[in-house]
Amino acid sequence: RKRVTLPSLVEKKDAGEPIVMVTAYDHPGAQIVEAAGVDVVLVGDSGAMTVLGYDSTVPVTVDEMLMLTRAVRRGLTTPLLVGDLPFGSYEASDSLAIATAQRFIKEAGCDLVKIERGGTSVDRARALVGAGIPVVGHVGLTPQTATALGGYRAQGRTADAARAVIDDALALQDAGCSMLVIEAVPSEVTAALKPLMRIPVIGIGAGADADGQVLVFHDLLGLYDGGAAKFVKRYADLRADAVAGVAAYAEDVRSGAYPAAEHSYSMAASEAVELRE
Ligand code: KIV
Ligand code: NA
Repeated sequence: RKRVTLPSLVEKKDAGEPIVMVTAYDHPGAQIVEAAGVDVVLVGDSGAMTVLGYDSTVPVTVDEMLMLTRAVRRGLTTPLLVGDLPFGSYEASDSLAIATAQRFIKEAGCDLVKIERGGTSVDRARALVGAGIPVVGHVGLTPQTATALGGYRAQGRTADAARAVIDDALALQDAGCSMLVIEAVPSEVTAALKPLMRIPVIGIGAGADADGQVLVFHDLLGLYDGGAAKFVKRYADLRADAVAGVAAYAEDVRSGAYPAAEHSYSMAASEAVELRE
């Protein structure tokens, strides 16, 4: 397969071919999404919850995200790689945003970085683009500031709230973003936004009108022990398979069924005799 580029994503958008994006957080996960042929891989700060066990995305640090992102980079050759700047690592100033984003580019090999929200994040996006760093915006439900949004709930459900989401999206496009994630909004918001956007719009819980979709790896594969959002579709039940596998191993060890002869090394018979003497 050919390496995915930003122009190739715009070509897909313009041709009406859906763009496939998924998260990954480690090397085997990267190899899996590479083999599955996705277009864009996001090392989401959702990894705070899916692989680091925090109860929100807020606590994860830049160094933690960089470690996950480097592991994913080593497993990818074809898709574009997006790094997710964690809460507190970009909001305070343009120079902070640029310094953090440069680490994701230099130390973890990201092609783009993602930041959340409109407002001051529009200025941060403009500064990053000005520094030569391609940016993905993220509007609608923005988990880093979910408390201020009233919790993990759909956004833009009134006409006024929908217009605010669309205004954020347009401001991020004008600031030079290369792509936009829109999360947990009514399908009507995405449908209204779409004709206004030249850059690819990737939906998650945003209906079928987006130019592409993104889901969390652990959600779509059923690897996450916990309730999934309304928009998640499960394509596998890996957690159940994994629990059954480890339980079968435990049973075999306890019953003596494992290890069998085929799992064991042997020595020449003469050596075995000498060993016993
Ligand atoms: O962190 C994440 O996984 C995300 C996607 C859901 C867009 O930001
Ligand atoms: Na995220």
